[in-house]
Amino acid sequence: MFRLSNNLIGILNVLTFILSIPILWAGVWLSNKGVTECEKFLDKPVIILGVFLMVISLAGLIGACCRVSWLLWTYLLVMFLLIVILFCFTIFAFVVTNKGAGEVVSERGYKEYRLGDYSNWLQKRVNSTKNWKKIRSCLVDSKVCSTFLNKYGGDNDEQFYKQHLSSVQSGCCKPSNDCQFTYVNPTNWSTNTNGASAQTNPDCSIWNNDQKILCYDCQACKAGLLDQLKRDWKKVAIVNIVFLIVLIIIYSIGCCAFRNSRRDNVYRGKNGA
Ligand SMILES: *[C@@H]1O[C@H](CO)[C@@H](O)[C@H](O)[C@H]1NC(C)=O
Repeated sequence: MFRLSNNLIGILNVLTFILSIPILWAGVWLSNKGVTECEKFLDKPVIILGVFLMVISLAGLIGACCRVSWLLWTYLLVMFLLIVILFCFTIFAFVVTNKGAGEVVSERGYKEYRLGDYSNWLQKRVNSTKNWKKIRSCLVDSKVCSTFLNKYGGDNDEQFYKQHLSSVQSGCCKPSNDCQFTYVNPTNWSTNTNGASAQTNPDCSIWNNDQKILCYDCQACKAGLLDQLKRDWKKVAIVNIVFLIVLIIIYSIGCCAFRNSRRDNVYRGKNGA
């Protein structure tokens, strides 16, 4: 039992060290070869994660195997901070993603999305012009709407209205139902409406049949993205809980290893004296 914790921490840190190499490699690859705006979002966080994991594994490894108390102490402190940060982030993710849902529209298979339904914090993030410009070009690069057109292009209006669209497709690739535009194909709508339906939805004047414009600047597109984000964050938060439990177990083993190395140092001190 006495040596076990040190060995376990040693092995765990060898594993996380090995793991950090491909992560770091992926980060460097993304920053050099990543061309689309979506990939550019990721390179810095991935590199930071890789370097962090590498440094902390080395501290844990050397600390546990060579019984360097201050390295183990640093390792435990960083682990503790990581547990606290992860815990706070998980709570935050649950709170922020609690609000908002798609709205059911009569006689439509898909839902429509309104920005006002989502949490204020998330609304502020997508309403920032700088953020939205990046997200927008990521959406264009990822070909959400051209995939959408390929998939539903053959539908007539009745078939199209019955489709279950993703939140981003519904928000960004077609005009809002409020506008009452006439369907030509999924990304081409005739904007001359017959009735004088007062268009209270500002998205209606933003819609453009041009493949590069569509509804990418609509409030509905931002809302559709937030709806997607909301579902993704829920999944991340659940994975985080599992990760937190694993971290707490590693932390406890690390504490044992730390106690051992201190006890060893005390013995060594007595023998030396
Ligand atoms: C949309 O459809 C109309 C009518 O078929 C066509 O004249 C127009 O060129 C189309 N616009 C685009 C951008 O595809």
